[in-house]
Amino acid sequence: MQGKVIGISGPTVTVDLPDLTLYERVSVGNDKLQGEVVRLRPASAVVQVYEETKGLRVGEPAVRENSPLTVRFTPGLLGGIFDGLQRPLQRLGEEFGPFIRPGDMLPFVPCEQQYPFVAEKKAGDRVGQGEYIGYVEEGAFRHYIAASAEGVIREIRDGNICPEDRVAILEDGTEALLWHQWPIRTARPFTRKKFPRSLLVTGQRCIDFLFPLAFGGTAVMPGGFGTGKTILEQAVAKYADVDIVVYVGCGERGNEMAEMLEEFRSLADPWTGRSLLDRTILVANTSNMPVAAREASIYTAVSMAEYYRDMGYHVLLLADSISRWAEALREISSALEEMPGEEGYPTYLASRLSGFMSRAGVVETLNGKTGSLSMVLSVSPPGGDFTEPTTQACLRNTGAFLMLDTDLAHRRHFPAINWAQSFSLYDRDVAEYCAREISPKWPEVKKRCQALLKQEEQLREVAEIVGDEGLQDADRLLMHVAEQIRSRFLCQNSFTDDAFSGPQSTFELIEKLVAMYDRCLERIRQGESLGEILLEEHP
Ligand SMILES: Nc1ncnc2c1ncn2[C@@H]1O[C@H](COP(=O)(O)OP(=O)(O)OP(=O)(O)O)[C@@H](O)[C@H]1O
Ligand SMILES: [Mg+2]
Repeated sequence: MQGKVIGISGPTVTVDLPDLTLYERVSVGNDKLQGEVVRLRPASAVVQVYEETKGLRVGEPAVRENSPLTVRFTPGLLGGIFDGLQRPLQRLGEEFGPFIRPGDMLPFVPCEQQYPFVAEKKAGDRVGQGEYIGYVEEGAFRHYIAASAEGVIREIRDGNICPEDRVAILEDGTEALLWHQWPIRTARPFTRKKFPRSLLVTGQRCIDFLFPLAFGGTAVMPGGFGTGKTILEQAVAKYADVDIVVYVGCGERGNEMAEMLEEFRSLADPWTGRSLLDRTILVANTSNMPVAAREASIYTAVSMAEYYRDMGYHVLLLADSISRWAEALREISSALEEMPGEEGYPTYLASRLSGFMSRAGVVETLNGKTGSLSMVLSVSPPGGDFTEPTTQACLRNTGAFLMLDTDLAHRRHFPAINWAQSFSLYDRDVAEYCAREISPKWPEVKKRCQALLKQEEQLREVAEIVGDEGLQDADRLLMHVAEQIRSRFLCQNSFTDDAFSGPQSTFELIEKLVAMYDRCLERIRQGESLGEILLEEHP
């Protein structure tokens, strides 16, 4: 069905198409800009357009696409960089130059690429909808292909196959292809959710030891300007012990994504030794790209992450930063003249964020596998004010809260995670796992470490009044060891070899520091002076 553009207001375009449905896809203008219906009126609709609307004119055509905005699941996504509409940015750059023009489009993966398909079912077998019928090898991963409908297989093929080709055909004529589409706003189904219980190692000592993440959990990282959000997100993307990483650069600097792409290409995954890029999908909607598409990039990324989760993989979704998506929601909402909520954000901000974050979890998939989707999301509160709506909405939904502290960042203490105010609700759930898999002393040493840091804080207040010399040796020892814990254990420079720390070496280091404290304290009790002891102690 074809209509016309009758109004334009920034990224929102009014079209005179009747009988549309909410979130249906419409292409507008001569360049066929892609958008989604966000408001309906009796004879018109408002479309949120995900591409640059500059140059679009009233009177240009608007076409109903008869489907929601979808993502295409196909082999070939790994190692790719896409925008919110899943356009392959690297290949678009090679084909059309560095600036994407509205309407530029290429297939998501090259049509000529061939994949060896291995059938796991045979003609005559009955399959259910979504049941796996075979797989292709995609790098180190087994990429499972599902039946699109229930029925009996009439024909199934083996061997090399192009993304557009048919893999199998059912008795009723339904075809199974190597790819399928999925509406990005719909969470993919699973059999049941499980409780997150295993530690997701990030390679960052402060996180793994003090504020652990669990497979299937969510972590939010709010931090003011320059507190190290991007560096920490990228460090977790590089070193996390997961199968697949989906990284969304949402409204942040484009050069950061470009550098990341280059770096990932040359770096090896510390867990498998393969190239990092082979396990990574990048979704870029940087600050110079259309604001409205930030929403599409977030949903496209989470849908891709769920797709791999359903194959039984552990997937980690990282987004930098959620605040830019919230700002895009605010911009669209004001263009739609909706009643504003707190600080001008739409009233549905919190429910939109919680709906998105609830897509994380450990699940038993429809094919009986166990997969997980974990999230690490950065938030950029304006002025570092954590009471603002986006941070608060994320805080209500998250399992781990890693607060990045401006003071620590100024002192070049990186990662600038404030150890007094951050928390992880997975702490208890993973304690048993850490005690079993890493060291039985893990929970005890952790308690000691937390106590030392806390005592130091209280002592520092006293020291400010009486001066360091006014403290007793035992107290000065505590201050000394806590300082060592902060500078040697909690600080971790992402630009040195120390950027990654495995769980075993994390534990050994902290155990050594705590043991040093105990040893020195004993010597002080026996009458030795702190000065002498510290000259001999090299933990
Ligand atoms: N783990 C780290 N190791 C060493 N240096 C770091 C680390 N984290 C941050 N830095 C330093 O802090 C600077 C700012 O970090 P980053 O760009 O990640 O901050 P940001 O919070 O993303 O900033 P913005 O709010 O502008 O996006 C980096 O350029 C780097 O010099
Ligand atoms: Mg940043």
